Amino acid sequence: MTAQPTVYLNGEFLPLDQAKVSVLDRGFIFGDGVYEVIPVYGGQLFRLNQHLQRLDHSLAGIRLDNPLAYDQWNSILEELVERNATEVYGDQSVYLQVTRGVAKRDHAFPKGVAPTVFAMSNPLAPLPASLASEGVAAITLDDIRWRYCNIKAITLLPNILLRQQALDANAAEAILISNGEVTEGAASNLFIVKDNILITPPKGPRLLPGITRDLILELAETHGIACREGAIRENELREADEVWLTSSAKEILPVTRLDGKAVSGGKPGQLWARVISLYQDYKRALRDVDRA
Ligand code: PDD
Repeated sequence: MTAQPTVYLNGEFLPLDQAKVSVLDRGFIFGDGVYEVIPVYGGQLFRLNQHLQRLDHSLAGIRLDNPLAYDQWNSILEELVERNATEVYGDQSVYLQVTRGVAKRDHAFPKGVAPTVFAMSNPLAPLPASLASEGVAAITLDDIRWRYCNIKAITLLPNILLRQQALDANAAEAILISNGEVTEGAASNLFIVKDNILITPPKGPRLLPGITRDLILELAETHGIACREGAIRENELREADEVWLTSSAKEILPVTRLDGKAVSGGKPGQLWARVISLYQDYKRALRDVDRA
């Protein structure tokens, strides 16, 4: 890899240190923008269409037109991945963001301003092997976020504060509770297992429609694992046989300690072991199709 990663900014590929955005960018001034995080396995953007569809929904949610067509996104992101390839099949994590562009500071939407389009790709480190033996700790916190959590907005101050509170308590993630119901993690979706049934809260304005979440539901369906989308009360979380956190960056994390108490006997559960292996098989199969 070159010393400077290559990033994409408004139509150009540039070394990271040459990519500059105005201080009047509405992303900087107001957090007025949306983003996506897309894992890249074996050089392939994982579930790109689903990520681009979610980007469309996020953009519609903030009333901003998508500045690029899907095939334009596709070729930009493929080139970005190519330019940042570390080894033949090194995994990466692509981050893209679209803001409402550069304008004099005013809450009202500016007229005739081009959005700012930025994308970068970072190496995606393999998950530590200790996960399978130990899992992670999580704590519960009040969901202090706004009412459009289905929009993947760059305005992440509540998520950052919640995640940091978890880290300060030696936990990997904060599990958020709103009106007695579990919504999701600060940067992940949540599943529980109860009596061999996989349960995750339904989509809606209280949580981000995770791409990993959808894939897990698909895999469960394909492989005959009982699953349903339904509200999870705080007491059901505490009485669950297993608790998982899912995201593009961390795949499926088994929670083994919740607010200091052991979950599933303090070890990752059996259903987690089955589904993470189905998940890895699915990734491998996509790679093999592409190489064939
Ligand atoms: N976050 N919920 C929230 C609030 C998230 O921020 C994320 C992902 C998810 C999981 O979504 P997906 O499975 O599509 O990654 C759920 C990313 C990874 C981030 O902000 O870095």
